[in-house]
Amino acid sequence: MSPAPTPVSYADFYRQSIDQPDAFWAEQAKLIDWFKPFERVCNYDNPPFARWFEGGQTNLCHNAVDRHVKERANQAALIAISTETGTEKTYTFNDLHREVQRMAASLKSLGVQKGDRVLIYMPMVADAAFAMLACARIGAIHCVVFGGFASGSLASRIDDATPKVIVSADAGSRGGKPTPYKHLLDEAIRLAKHKPDAVLLSDRQLAPMDLVAGRDHLWSELRQQHIDAQVPCEPMNSTDISYTIYTSGTTGKPKGVQRDTAGYTVALAASMQHIFGGRAGETFFATSDIGWVVGHSYIVYGPLIAGMATIMYEGLPTQGLDGQPDGGIWWSLVEKYKVTGMFSAPTAVRVLKKQDPALLKKYDLSSLRALYLAGEPLDAPTARWISEGLNVPIIDNYWQTETGWPLLTVANGVAPMASKFGSPGVPMYGYNVKLLHENTGEELTQPNEKGVVVLDGPTPPGFMQTIWKDDARFVNTYWKSIPGKLVYNTFDWGIRDEDGYYFILGRTDDVINVAGHRLGTREIEESISGHAAVAEVAVVGVADNLKGQVAMAFVVLKDARAVNDPAVSLQLEREIMKQVDGDLGAVARPARVRFVTALPKTRSGKLLRRVIQAVCEGRDAGDVTSMDDPGALQQIKDLMAS
Ligand code: PRX
Repeated sequence: MSPAPTPVSYADFYRQSIDQPDAFWAEQAKLIDWFKPFERVCNYDNPPFARWFEGGQTNLCHNAVDRHVKERANQAALIAISTETGTEKTYTFNDLHREVQRMAASLKSLGVQKGDRVLIYMPMVADAAFAMLACARIGAIHCVVFGGFASGSLASRIDDATPKVIVSADAGSRGGKPTPYKHLLDEAIRLAKHKPDAVLLSDRQLAPMDLVAGRDHLWSELRQQHIDAQVPCEPMNSTDISYTIYTSGTTGKPKGVQRDTAGYTVALAASMQHIFGGRAGETFFATSDIGWVVGHSYIVYGPLIAGMATIMYEGLPTQGLDGQPDGGIWWSLVEKYKVTGMFSAPTAVRVLKKQDPALLKKYDLSSLRALYLAGEPLDAPTARWISEGLNVPIIDNYWQTETGWPLLTVANGVAPMASKFGSPGVPMYGYNVKLLHENTGEELTQPNEKGVVVLDGPTPPGFMQTIWKDDARFVNTYWKSIPGKLVYNTFDWGIRDEDGYYFILGRTDDVINVAGHRLGTREIEESISGHAAVAEVAVVGVADNLKGQVAMAFVVLKDARAVNDPAVSLQLEREIMKQVDGDLGAVARPARVRFVTALPKTRSGKLLRRVIQAVCEGRDAGDVTSMDDPGALQQIKDLMAS
């Protein structure tokens, strides 16, 4: 293999990653520890399946924890802060090493072996990070399910992942109120066909828990039994699965995005250096949740792999450690822990925008070098407001659960590069990004043409390997959506300007983004259809100033008379919202449920969600000549105007 030439600019760095991917990624692979060197950088013999670093062996937990114990045993690794319970605790790398081994031994004692799945349904507490790292340590595949999801969502994920053990807690907490988990978990296990052998529970003493004898175990007890446990890191083949994470698509069945071990570790190590400019000994603060991909990559694994301390934060951005309102809590943490890199979502900034701007000046934020924002479009006024307030670069980054790390942004760690308001930036190294014409599939080469954002394979390390247990769905959903071409479809619209900067214009499919949470309208529709009074339903995402989008449901009732009775409608709206809360969780609850006598459809019976959405947003509905019943659309127009 010829040595990689030293890049002089980001353009060169990027070109090398595309033209000489083996040399490029072999160089990046030096950022991590290997138990056994790899023999082949990329095996793309069977497109679109890219297999990275074949023949090598490594371990994600070793790279995140053990290798730092030698040099920085007593430096902070995990800083767990909860403004919900008023707690703040720092675990050094040494402490983390111990806790993870205790958790690993506990999981093993419950029968977990390499390759087994462990489903983690937890609030943002340190135990959740221990559980993830412990799985990686022993080669178990973790499947973290967002704590805001309810029994129905959880049950379908239990059935898909078939976990041997579930790790959970008595409760989360929001706005000072406990949100009990255990009864939701019990109900999910009752609903699921697959039954886990054991449940390991962290008892925060926030809500009472009934333990099921023989199945449920308390982490506090097992931890004590394994207090001195020494559990070595399992040597994992590069392409062994590290985890799966469920994400919404256009069908009601969520997809288990599956990731490898070595490629993911290398990708995160590289991104911490080139994109986030993080250095060992510094502190990173990502405000997401472990239930989402940002939590996996940039709360737990990325910063730790880089030898940084990571802040794990439970609570609202507007509540202090004493439980009192405090719109400056995040900035006080930046000052206290000398945070150098912070990662959040535009929604959170829009919430903070309503707070007193003086709060941004109250603390010494001189440690902070940049604020990274992702998950939804960053509007220019929000970007400007926070940029002026913090006086640091605001760096938009565009990616997906599927990609695992940023696809479009600026890599200031490689070479300083200007950002443009409204654009996440340029393609990141390793991503061969193209824009295709939506109908012809032709590549768009001229600036400022709107097309579908796609990737040519091989996709870079860290990218999803496949959909868990469903290679065919992976290929058909993502790679065969454009006739005649084998390209990865992001399902996002984009344009590229004359300087090569991309602008993301929203999804091409029925996935919506509510306060940075990715939701499938089909899942919400399925839940609503479960209500006995409902004949038909359409859910669309509608633009919202604070949350980016909110879900709006339009329902046709079996008994149309209720539509004209305000009291009945109100009652049904409440019931339907409750139904969604119970099935999916409040995160998926529509902002409004409105009742109509018919839904706008094509003559062939296809629901015109995009037309409904346009009308809800007060936009022109476009060509509606194919519509079956124009009166249906008029009803929605009237409702929105009322
Ligand atoms: O539509 C894009 C939007 O969020 C989707 C991916 O969501 P998720 O799988 O939850 O991953 C989030 C990882 C940060 C994308 O298909 N999206 C994400 N980031 C941006 C964005 N839209 C505009 N600008 C962004 N920076």
